[in-house]
Amino acid sequence: MTSLPVSSTLPDLLSGGPYQGYTYGYPHKTAYRAFESPLPLREVWAGEDKSSLFLYLHIPFCEMRCGFCNLFTTVNAPVSLEQGYLDATERQAEVVADALGDATFSRMAIGGGTPTYLEVGDLERVFDLLERSFGASAARLPTSVETSPATATPERLELLRERGVERVSIGVQSFTESEVHSVGRAQQHKQVVTALDAIRAAGLPVLSIDLIYGLAHQTPETWLESLKTALTWAPEELFLYPLYVRPLTGIGRLGRTWDDERLELYRLGRDFLLASGYLQTSMRCFQLASQPIAVEPEYTCKTGGMVGLGCGARSYTQALHYSSEYAVGAVGVREIIQDFVARPAERFGYVSHGIRLNTDEQRRRFVLQSMLNIVGLDVGMYRQAFGSDPHGDFPQLAELEAAGLAFQQSGILRLTPAGLEQSDALGPWLYSPVMVRLSEEYAWR
Ligand SMILES: C[S@@+](CC[C@H](N)C(=O)[O-])C[C@H]1O[C@@H](n2cnc3c(N)ncnc32)[C@H](O)[C@@H]1O
Ligand code: SF4
Repeated sequence: MTSLPVSSTLPDLLSGGPYQGYTYGYPHKTAYRAFESPLPLREVWAGEDKSSLFLYLHIPFCEMRCGFCNLFTTVNAPVSLEQGYLDATERQAEVVADALGDATFSRMAIGGGTPTYLEVGDLERVFDLLERSFGASAARLPTSVETSPATATPERLELLRERGVERVSIGVQSFTESEVHSVGRAQQHKQVVTALDAIRAAGLPVLSIDLIYGLAHQTPETWLESLKTALTWAPEELFLYPLYVRPLTGIGRLGRTWDDERLELYRLGRDFLLASGYLQTSMRCFQLASQPIAVEPEYTCKTGGMVGLGCGARSYTQALHYSSEYAVGAVGVREIIQDFVARPAERFGYVSHGIRLNTDEQRRRFVLQSMLNIVGLDVGMYRQAFGSDPHGDFPQLAELEAAGLAFQQSGILRLTPAGLEQSDALGPWLYSPVMVRLSEEYAWR
């Protein structure tokens, strides 16, 4: 095939700064649209390889709405809405399991939002429904659950341990209260310490901690202090996220841009963790080198499909990605959840919102998902999957190598440290013009 269109040159791209957009799955949800007519789920999954699927359940409830967060979630949900949500998810799970037919899952995750916002009895209901409908038990599959400092209580953690959950991921963001308060996150240091102690006491195998850099009032010293404090719990994994919503009161030392500030903090964090026995597996993810983690934390799902349950969850087949509608604003999110809760079982048998991936888009997805991760782009595997050479399809790859941002070794193309820190610029560079346009035209609600 001829090479795929490129939106700008590498120097142009890099002059735009390293923080252009997080490639969390490609295409982005903002490129999804309503289908002309709903597609029967059974047909969507017919002919797919269902031997190693990823099961994901989204719980769109939180105790607070953090200023940096663009996830699909709602705060202060009445108990009736939560119960209605679980009832609807049970209806959906039965219909989806029936439409999938013979399917085998190789891992699962319960994310959000904050899944542990649910009470213990409701969490039990969640594990039961996954097991009943899909035979997916956390005791047999590598399973990950997201939690927050206020909701990681000993009772809930005990349930996660009993059920066999392997990985618990907690948002801390910063151990300095004024920094988290600057993004509207009402979190007390004492609460964070209690939660992390409780996770360790519960004996769950993998603790993953999220931290954010670029926060208001944050300095290299306070950032390093947060990292050091995090390591007192020896987490098996850490995620370092750049803040994307510009703080009103930045650290802004004279003559420096916010990009410079974030890049300095990124490098400081990376070097500190590398020197402390961690391996970097992507721009954001660091794992304890002495204890490699079996679960893939960033859900690369390069080849396997993903079955998403609940409202806001995405599902992937080879050529079709779909989800419920997407919103971030409080009213939009509530409307979408209420529609989900009111849905009769039959409606769960159809998908009405998503995007089709032609083979060009599938190639881009393959390159993006592998290149931005330590696994790297396996040139032979790409050739086998698409019958063409990735360098022929993507002239950008040779440019990256020439600029010292990527290198090839034993048939695998990987980013160098200089390339890795530009991941949030390089990802969007590889998006197709069609997907860029669809995301730009997306009407936020
Ligand atoms: C589902 S939450 C984690 C669990 C829990 N809700 C909490 O906040 O403690 C998602 C994580 O993604 C990270 N994150 C980084 N950038 C984000 C963004 N723009 N929107 C949402 N989450 C973001 C945050 O560090 C946050 O901890
Ligand atoms: S960061 Fe976590 S707690 Fe805050 S709004 Fe997002 S999902 Fe909810």
